[in-house]
Amino acid sequence: MRLVDQTRLPHETVVAVCATAADVASAIRTLRVRGAPAIGVTAAYGLALAAYRAAEAGADALAAVEAASGLLRAARPTAVNLRWAVDRLLAVARGAPRGAALAERLLAEAEAIAAADVAANQAIGRLGAAMIGHGECILTYCHTGGLATAGYGTAFGILRAAHEAGRGIRVVACETRPVLQGARLTAWELLQHGIPGVLITDNVAGSLMARGEVDRVIVGADRIARNGDVANKIGTYALAVLARAHGIPFVVAAPTSTVDLATPDGAAIPIEERDAHEVTHLAGVRVAPEGIAVRNPAFDVTPHRLITAIVTEAGVAAPPYDRSLAALAGAAVGS
Ligand code: MRU
Repeated sequence: MRLVDQTRLPHETVVAVCATAADVASAIRTLRVRGAPAIGVTAAYGLALAAYRAAEAGADALAAVEAASGLLRAARPTAVNLRWAVDRLLAVARGAPRGAALAERLLAEAEAIAAADVAANQAIGRLGAAMIGHGECILTYCHTGGLATAGYGTAFGILRAAHEAGRGIRVVACETRPVLQGARLTAWELLQHGIPGVLITDNVAGSLMARGEVDRVIVGADRIARNGDVANKIGTYALAVLARAHGIPFVVAAPTSTVDLATPDGAAIPIEERDAHEVTHLAGVRVAPEGIAVRNPAFDVTPHRLITAIVTEAGVAAPPYDRSLAALAGAAVGS
């Protein structure tokens, strides 16, 4: 399995090769592939890979898939797309004949998830772009583009669709400490697509809002609870509070595979804590003194009351989210 290594962009395009499901789990853990929809799709292909490896070796493919599913599911805890994709593949594996046929079924299911994700992102782009006025300046956070998904992007997909529709938008991309997905990846995709934009350090956002230079905030999501609380990259909550204080719409964009109706609210979403090294070092260079204690939560929760709208491929959810999300997610499952 070949993945564009997101840790090496924008300086070089390096393809990481995963020979086993354990390699795939490691690529997810180390952020070589990241972004909620992208890690779900990647895990799906990882399970197909486990089945092919077992079939080649004459081993029990279903047992190999069951073992790999535990490894992949545990790679990152917050983005529900990972668990969602693994559970979907496991259900297919349990109902499939053993051997090479099982591997083929899993590959077909992974391909179907990838294709559906691209279509969902394009629909999110269309629905979200319809909300945007001419010449808006839109602030975004972290990285939600083609590389964070199976293709096109979620929040970034809206920016892309609005740009392609000639809306004359401008984008403010926050760098997104500690691992700089905004500076490294969003900035790179803005340039790839010719979308006018500027890069800022995260602490500039409030000042731009106070000057009236931001018309809208659009972010992605890693898990959306039943009541509309949204887990996304750490720092999203602060932007939502700032947007509310300045009367700026705060929009979340995500496919329905990110909506977790089984999680009642944000307090029930597990928040990943990552290595201190991400905070004490910048691009491999130590910036903090040895011995300092560090907190490094990778995500935070934005309460539903701060969110203006949630754009999914099945439609735009508005408050009260417990009703609108259940209707949209239910319709997407039934379609
Ligand atoms: O830790 P990361 O880089 O995987 O976090 C990613 C985000 O928080 C994104 O905003 C989210 O996954 C949406 S990606 C379309």
